[in-house]
Amino acid sequence: MANLPDFIGINIGNYSIKAIEVRPIGDTFELLNLAQVPSANGTIENISVGNLDMPTNDLQKLLKDNNFKTRNAVFSVPESLVFSRLVNLPKVKDEEVDEAINFAMKNLIPVPLENLNIAYSFIEERKTDTNIFQSWYVVGIQKTLSDRFKDLAGRVGLNLLAIETEALALIRNIDFNYSDTGKRSFMILDFGGEYSNLVISRNGSVLYSQNISTGSNALTKIIATDLALDISKAEEYKEKAGLDANMGGGRIAKTIEPIIQIIVSEISRTLAYYNDRIGGEPVSELYVTGGGGALPKLIEYLTDKTGLKVTLVDNFRKVKLKGDLKINQLSFNVATGLALKSLELM
Ligand SMILES: Nc1ncnc2c1ncn2[C@@H]1O[C@H](COP(=O)(O)OP(=O)(O)OP(=O)(O)O)[C@@H](O)[C@H]1O
Ligand SMILES: [Mg+2]
Repeated sequence: MANLPDFIGINIGNYSIKAIEVRPIGDTFELLNLAQVPSANGTIENISVGNLDMPTNDLQKLLKDNNFKTRNAVFSVPESLVFSRLVNLPKVKDEEVDEAINFAMKNLIPVPLENLNIAYSFIEERKTDTNIFQSWYVVGIQKTLSDRFKDLAGRVGLNLLAIETEALALIRNIDFNYSDTGKRSFMILDFGGEYSNLVISRNGSVLYSQNISTGSNALTKIIATDLALDISKAEEYKEKAGLDANMGGGRIAKTIEPIIQIIVSEISRTLAYYNDRIGGEPVSELYVTGGGGALPKLIEYLTDKTGLKVTLVDNFRKVKLKGDLKINQLSFNVATGLALKSLELM
């Protein structure tokens, strides 16, 4: 493959805005640059209502201060702002798929279809005695929201090549970095700052995604309250002790466990929903990612409580690095998946 252009993946999160610049080389990538800046309060809400001044400044600063060179960019949209559905349809001719999916979506979403850009990907085919069914993952994004992201890209001088959901970017990242174990059904926990996401993937597509309004910031807050500490000290304790019962007499672990329990019950509920309503190959693996994934003893805890095989995601397992990273790589989960989209776009 000759001289593919470089790409930036940009993930605007509630905790920080992250950017990664990669260069496609053959069937892999070289990491050229990565950086993050804290998000201003309500960045995502501001974009969704069209207040672009603050995000424009933050993004401009991030790209300029960290010397990002290319202009080709892919942006993510948080799961909470899109309509994503799993659609099962009797098999139709290729040229009729578009109409059949649009018709099905009409009954599944609360806004008029003409206000949305619809994209879909094929998941699988199932045969019954009398019929063939196909399942599709369908995403609808409000045209006004796409326009706001285009506007933002224009303001910071980026060439916006695509917008996609965080769930799709996460799956691409994990499929790319862990492809040696083959395509299969698995669950992802994206443990973020204000929010977390649970995603179930099969064959490179999304079967299910759910936004949970509990993120790792909630751990910091409860430590601060229970131990009467300021937020930065509480953050330090969280990062040092986490769920480790041997640190400081297990006080931090005990304080944060009820919040981690909320996530464990959401994982169980999602698995039960999957088994009841979606079915197929059982999900036995959980990939943990997002900044909150660095919590000490989290992987051991989730392994014990869920019975799943739990892996802490290395976003750069198969990406070529030039030297050591001095940054919590786990936060760059979505941004990496977005940057990896470059191979599909060429
Ligand atoms: N070493 C660490 N140990 C534990 N938690 C950490 C560590 N480093 C960062 N975090 C936590 O990770 C969270 C940020 O994660 P991430 O960058 O994935 O969030 P985000 O995607 O910007 O936010 P959101 O998902 O809410 O939009 C913060 O709560 C932060 O305290
Ligand atoms: Mg996030």
